[in-house]
Amino acid sequence: MLVLGIETSCDETGIAIYDTEKGLVGHRLHSQVEIHAQYGGVVPELASRDHIRKVIPLIDDILISSNLGKHQLDAIAYTAGPGLVGALLVGACVAKSLAWGLDIPCIPVHHMEGHLLAPMLEDPAPEFPFLALLVSGGHTLLVEVKGLGDYTLLGSSVDDAVGEAFDKTAKLLGLGYPGGPALAKLAESGDEKRFTFPRPMTDRPGLDFSFSGLKTFARNTLSKEGDDPKTKADIARAFEDAVVDTMVIKCRRALIQTGLHRLVIAGGVGANIALRQGLSDLMTSVNGKIFYPRIEFCTDNGAMIAYAGAMRFKAGGFGEAKDVVRARWPLEELKAI
Ligand code: KG4
Ligand code: ZN
Repeated sequence: MLVLGIETSCDETGIAIYDTEKGLVGHRLHSQVEIHAQYGGVVPELASRDHIRKVIPLIDDILISSNLGKHQLDAIAYTAGPGLVGALLVGACVAKSLAWGLDIPCIPVHHMEGHLLAPMLEDPAPEFPFLALLVSGGHTLLVEVKGLGDYTLLGSSVDDAVGEAFDKTAKLLGLGYPGGPALAKLAESGDEKRFTFPRPMTDRPGLDFSFSGLKTFARNTLSKEGDDPKTKADIARAFEDAVVDTMVIKCRRALIQTGLHRLVIAGGVGANIALRQGLSDLMTSVNGKIFYPRIEFCTDNGAMIAYAGAMRFKAGGFGEAKDVVRARWPLEELKAI
C-alpha cells in the first residue's frame, strides 16, 4: 500500500510516500526559514501562502522521481492539527481534494503522533510499549505509549514549551530565528562551570516541566554579567545544561514510575546533540534502550505523517470529508485503534 503524507502545520512543507511493504519511498521538504527570518518568527499568513505555492509542485516532484503515478496511491494522509489553522487548511484541502478525485481514503494525522512514531522509520525501530519524550516548538510532553493511538500523558510543560524556551533565550542572546539550533551551536564554546542555572520543578515530585524561569534567569544573568560574546556563550551553555539535566531527571522518574525500558525522543528539540547524549547516558545507566529519528526527521517533515497515516490506514482509521483541522488538539484525545 502506498500512502502519500502531507505536512503543512507550521513553517515547513513536507511531502513523503510510504510503502507499507517496502518502507519510505521518498520525501521532500521545503523550509520557509528565509521567509520568516526577517520577522524573527513565523508569520502565519506568509506560511499559508507559501504552502499553497509549494505543496502541489512537491507532490508532483516526488511522484515523478519515484516513478509513480498518482493513481498508484492507496491513501493520502495529512496533518490535521495541532498547528497554524491557515497552514493546516492548505494541506487538508489538497489532501481531501486529491483523495476525492482518486477515490481513495484520506487520513487525518495528529502532528505530535507523527513526531512520536517517527523513530519507527529507523532500524532498529522501537516496539510498543515505550516512554516518549516529545519536545518541539509548541510541546513538551512525556507520554506512556502502549500502542497506536494509546497514549497516556504523564507530564507536560506548565508554561513555555522547551523549543519555545530555546527560541526565546536565543533571541535574548541576539541569535537569529530559528533560535534552538543557533543556541546549541553557541553553547558548544561555552564554559560549563561559569554559571549554574536552576533545574525547574525537580525539587518536588511529579513529571511536569516549567521553562519560562530559565529564560528569565538568562535575561538576568545577561544584564548582570554583560553581553560580551564569551558571556553569551557561557549563558547558552548553562541554559542547555539545565534543560538537558531537567529532562534526564524527569525521564528517569517516568521510567521508574511506568517500569518501561525503552525511551523515544522526538520533535525538533530531539535534534539537540547534548540532549541526545544526556538521555543516551541515562538509558545506558538503567540498562534500557533509546530510540530517536535521524536529525532531519526530528523537525517537521512529511515522512512522519506518511508513516503515521500508513499505520492508521492499516488499522482502518480513515477520515471523512467533514473532518476539520484543529489549531489545538490534545494528544490524549486520540483513541487506541
Ligand atoms: O518539531 P519542530 O520542527 O516544530 C514544531 O512542531 O514545533 O520543532 C521546532 C523547534 C524549534 O523551537 C527549534 O528551535 C527547536 O525545535 N530545535 C532545536 C534544535 N533544532 C531544532 N532546539 C535545540 N537544539 C537543536 N539542535
Ligand atoms: Zn513539529
